[in-house]
Amino acid sequence: MIVLEGVTKIYHENVYALRDISLQVPKGQCCFILGPSGAGKTTLLKLIYSLEKPTSGKVSLHDRYITGMGNPGIQALRRHMGFVFQDYRLIEDWTVYDNAAVILEILGKSAGYIKNRVWHMLKWVGLQHKIYERAGDLSGGEKQLLSIIRATIHDPDILLADEPVGSLDETTARHVLNMFYKLHKKGVTMLIASHREDPLVDFARIITLEKGTIVHR
Ligand SMILES: Nc1ncnc2c1ncn2[C@@H]1O[C@H](COP(=O)(O)OP(=O)(O)OP(=O)(O)O)[C@@H](O)[C@H]1O
Ligand SMILES: [Mg+2]
Repeated sequence: MIVLEGVTKIYHENVYALRDISLQVPKGQCCFILGPSGAGKTTLLKLIYSLEKPTSGKVSLHDRYITGMGNPGIQALRRHMGFVFQDYRLIEDWTVYDNAAVILEILGKSAGYIKNRVWHMLKWVGLQHKIYERAGDLSGGEKQLLSIIRATIHDPDILLADEPVGSLDETTARHVLNMFYKLHKKGVTMLIASHREDPLVDFARIITLEKGTIVHR
């Protein structure tokens, strides 16, 4: 369960990214966060991943307040989370393989498991022929796919995805939404930010943000 209680985020004086947001996302729910540019979608996801702290209000994951939690606690929680960044945030000088494998290495998985898992995931999205290429040399859509793999390869409990299909063609986008559906069936809690309505799926709850406020849920 993800809970936000009266969360406000002000970046600079007068730049209110979120205003008094209260939201509960039960375990296993898939939630689309819709809203125009600047509505606060990325900020909402970053608060849940502890990349930003709220100016006021509280955020909790699995009944534990993350607001005020120290770095070791946050790192431990993140091992069970995945984040697809709007700007991918791959390590561009590393290979595709190393970008995909890094979380499995952190989790101490065996070399054989990692090799198989990375291959399987890359094959699933059709990126296996790029396995030893530099991540920085991929196209925008390929980077987005790799970023999705990196966020899901360790079977997270919570997936936060920021415009995850924005750079993909329609067929690939549908493929990725199918993958999200499978994760949903496995009980993964998901928050997916989008500024468009078209990637909507019928299993999702819809929350609309405007100027940092929830206008529809
Ligand atoms: N690091 C930051 N420093 C200052 N202001 C920021 C920062 N990040 C976001 N903002 C501001 O907060 C508001 C919400 O931004 P946010 O990125 O959360 O919106 P968004 O809904 O994700 O938009 P988009 O659809 O364009 O990605 C905007 O006014 C933005 O300019
Ligand atoms: Mg954004």
